[in-house]
Amino acid sequence: RSSDIVRLLAGDRLLPVVILPDASAAEPLAAALTAGGLHSIEVTLRTPAALDAIKRLAASSDLLVGAGTVLSPEQAERAVDAGARYVVCPGFSAAVVRRCQDLGVPVFPGVATPTEIQMALEAGLEAVKFFPAEQLGGAPMVKALSAPFPGVRFVPTGGVTTANLAAYLAVPAVLAVGGTWMVAADLLAAGDYAEITRRTAAAVAATRP
Ligand code: 3PG
Repeated sequence: RSSDIVRLLAGDRLLPVVILPDASAAEPLAAALTAGGLHSIEVTLRTPAALDAIKRLAASSDLLVGAGTVLSPEQAERAVDAGARYVVCPGFSAAVVRRCQDLGVPVFPGVATPTEIQMALEAGLEAVKFFPAEQLGGAPMVKALSAPFPGVRFVPTGGVTTANLAAYLAVPAVLAVGGTWMVAADLLAAGDYAEITRRTAAAVAATRP
């Protein structure tokens, strides 16, 4: 009964997180990520362009588009209206989780402690974001946190790069890693989609031991 996004993440093992200043970047960015070998994208609701970008991606690209940095049930609703097919949050909000479940949309709340993992389990969830991953102790922390929660899958995000992603992916409980490094702000600003594809392809290559 695993959702489309869980299946895609289990295959790609990488979730590009993007902060888009301009919705017109949506189409070339989708093409660049697809060329690099990925099938999903998380557009953070941190810019006024985000909802429009989600709309454009949902309408025109083959990527499975989700909304990130979702902080309220209202934001979750707006994102889903725009076409987001999953929701990611930096922390655990029971209200956001409940709204996503009512909307029938997979939600990945952020967790940093065993308490938050238990809250996610009580809400009926099996996959969570682990954020901010590097700052919280990296792969060894995910490994230690996962021990008492055998069914839980983690998406470590925060400080992940091509250089350290393999350590996370070696932890059996890790579903995928996420981060902004493939779509860095300076590359977007320069319209350097070739470099975005190159970084994405390098990251994809690093997922394969
Ligand atoms: C997020 O919202 O997931 C983070 O900002 C991503 O962290 P990163 O920029 O260190 O990849």
